[in-house]
Amino acid sequence: MRASMPYRGARRRAGVAWIVYHRRSRRRIATAGRGVPGPACAAPRSVTRYGHWIDFPRNPERDPRTTRARWRPVVSDADLGGLRTVRDFIRWGASRFNEAGLVFGHGTDNALDEAAALVFHALHLPPDLPADWLGAALTRAERGAVAALLRRRLHERLPAAYLTGEAWFAGLSFRVDPRVLIPRSPIAELVECGFEPWAAGLEVRRILDLGTGSGCIGIACAMAFPEAAVDLADVSPDALEVARENIARHGIEARVRALRSDLFAALAGPYDLIVSNPPYVTEAQMRAVPPEYRHEPAGALAGGPEGLDFALRILREAPAYLAEAGLLVVEVGEAAASLEARLPGLPFLWPEFARGGDGVFVLTGAELRDYWKNRACAGSA
Ligand SMILES: C[S@@+](CC[C@H](N)C(=O)[O-])C[C@H]1O[C@@H](n2cnc3c(N)ncnc32)[C@H](O)[C@@H]1O
Repeated sequence: MRASMPYRGARRRAGVAWIVYHRRSRRRIATAGRGVPGPACAAPRSVTRYGHWIDFPRNPERDPRTTRARWRPVVSDADLGGLRTVRDFIRWGASRFNEAGLVFGHGTDNALDEAAALVFHALHLPPDLPADWLGAALTRAERGAVAALLRRRLHERLPAAYLTGEAWFAGLSFRVDPRVLIPRSPIAELVECGFEPWAAGLEVRRILDLGTGSGCIGIACAMAFPEAAVDLADVSPDALEVARENIARHGIEARVRALRSDLFAALAGPYDLIVSNPPYVTEAQMRAVPPEYRHEPAGALAGGPEGLDFALRILREAPAYLAEAGLLVVEVGEAAASLEARLPGLPFLWPEFARGGDGVFVLTGAELRDYWKNRACAGSA
């Protein structure tokens, strides 16, 4: 039953390779809709407006990014003397970022894109500035503003999105600050494609974004399903303030609300679509995260000893809140293998993403209910 699902309403959009595979055996179960790269679904990973995957160092003692992070750059005004143009400052910033061993994983994945994002922001220029303008000279005041921002990135190790106050997710702009995780979930690709093929034929009237942070996933879902009512839930009042700002930013107050809830505790189902990017960083990984990630709320990252504390609770509690034909979509990142080992027989589907990232599973309400019913029967037999 599960293996045939991806063919239901085969994908028509171009650009995303929907390869569904069994995680442990790597056996391919199905492929649907490979095509010509399209504008919405095939952006390169390094483009700043698209989120991408966190790659935590597996062995912090040997990872050059953690050891080089102790290097402290000294940048004096004399260093900036020969810099004139937009291009000069992007190049200079990228060189200093690489020299200092900064870590990128909050919307860009390399020093040049990170420096460009900061330089354009300081100059009030759009992120897709045509190349012709890179040779434009900066005024003295502009040189000071750009240098100050690049220095903050170097010295404070603040991710660029916290310095600019903005992050992009699924082609939408979100207000962000250190009260919320910087949006980067690969779930963006699923939202952009309307969760097809899994949502094909599903009437999506109510959506829940559980652990909403900035509200990025739920708000992007609201845009993808213009008829749906969307609940954004989070346990953090700080995060909910930011989510409410983003609801207003996109003008969707009439059908999107932000609710304080410890997972499902204060919510009322049924939902047709429950999407969640809960905290899933393991305790060992938390001890090793690079400085950039320490600016994010620990409560948005820490998922317990194996990273599974929240995912297991969601899987256990979701059946009471999910419609029978509804979909549960949850990101668990590198904790995927431990999760499958903990719940053998649960028919997880793990989509593969064109822009990178993995560790997101899709399940239906019926599959979840059957699983827990069978486990209960097996337990009582
Ligand atoms: C990994 S962040 C995801 C934020 C956002 N959805 C995104 O993808 O950028 C996890 C979020 O879950 C929230 N959270 C942590 N524990 C929670 C709980 N018990 N109930 C609800 N939300 C919780 C955190 O406050 C944080 O905003």
